[in-house]
Amino acid sequence: MIDLTGRLALVTGGSRGIGRATAVALAEAGADVAITYVNSRRNAEDVGAKILELGRRTLVVRADLSDEDDTTHLVDAVAEQLGGLDILVSNAAGGGFRPLLETSGDQLDYAIHLNVRAFMLLTQKAAPHLEARAVDGRRSKVITVSSWGAERALPMYGAIGACKAAIESMTRHAALELGHRGINVNCVRAGVVDTGSLRALPGVEAVLEERRQRSMVDRNIQPEDVADSIAFLASDRANMIQGQTLILDGGTSLRP
Ligand SMILES: NC(=O)c1ccc[n+]([C@@H]2O[C@H](COP(=O)([O-])OP(=O)(O)OC[C@H]3O[C@@H](n4cnc5c(N)ncnc54)[C@H](OP(=O)(O)O)[C@@H]3O)[C@@H](O)[C@H]2O)c1
Repeated sequence: MIDLTGRLALVTGGSRGIGRATAVALAEAGADVAITYVNSRRNAEDVGAKILELGRRTLVVRADLSDEDDTTHLVDAVAEQLGGLDILVSNAAGGGFRPLLETSGDQLDYAIHLNVRAFMLLTQKAAPHLEARAVDGRRSKVITVSSWGAERALPMYGAIGACKAAIESMTRHAALELGHRGINVNCVRAGVVDTGSLRALPGVEAVLEERRQRSMVDRNIQPEDVADSIAFLASDRANMIQGQTLILDGGTSLRP
């Protein structure tokens, strides 16, 4: 069993999908969990209520992570109110699905700011808080979320895919800089996950069916599957895993 009793966590983009499942999984494992949202206040408040039901403390914070000020103020505010920070899950993402050849400079900037710059700034701001809690052999954790766009070419995914490649690289470099300060930095690269926002895309049923058939687990990946891996990486059981990208796709990518 994953035990995060007494740990203090921040999950960005905790209002929906993988972030929501992660916030709940961390709370179920015993952590107090702050979540962020940008538009879905009601969804975020529902997640906060669920965390409270589990007997944990929570904070529900609006932060636009494409904005540098919001991003840099977020961590100190959360750490001050929770009383520290042990776990940062940099999960929020976005940037729009469109062909790379039809992506404007501003659209690319937005994707980079939200997906890549936010991770770097959050990690910079979190580092002193995480280090302060890494005492008596305990290690703090930063976890990022990537996708196959980091390595493969997916339709309409050029800008975000490039950002995911950057996140995976930054995960390794942040691990190099933070490992000796009691902090592990790792990434979960998920295959196609059956989230509400995915379901809103046209033609997604066919994609999910094709993924299900290729999977060795005979079902689609659920947000809770990703959350379980993140909870594991957040726990003491993953203390020796450093700077890695864990692939979570039911074996789909092993096939030619
Ligand atoms: N779904 C997949 O198939 C899949 C596969 C591999 C990796 N991933 C990765 O997993 C993570 C979560 O994906 P998901 O599908 O669960 O996402 P999602 O359902 O689309 O939710 C995105 C989250 O990010 C927040 N967000 C969006 N724009 C933001 C901004 N400007 N500032 C702050 N927060 C913002 C949203 O807040 P609001 O609710 O307030 O809008 C929401 O909480 C992402 O990093 C994604 O790239 C997803």
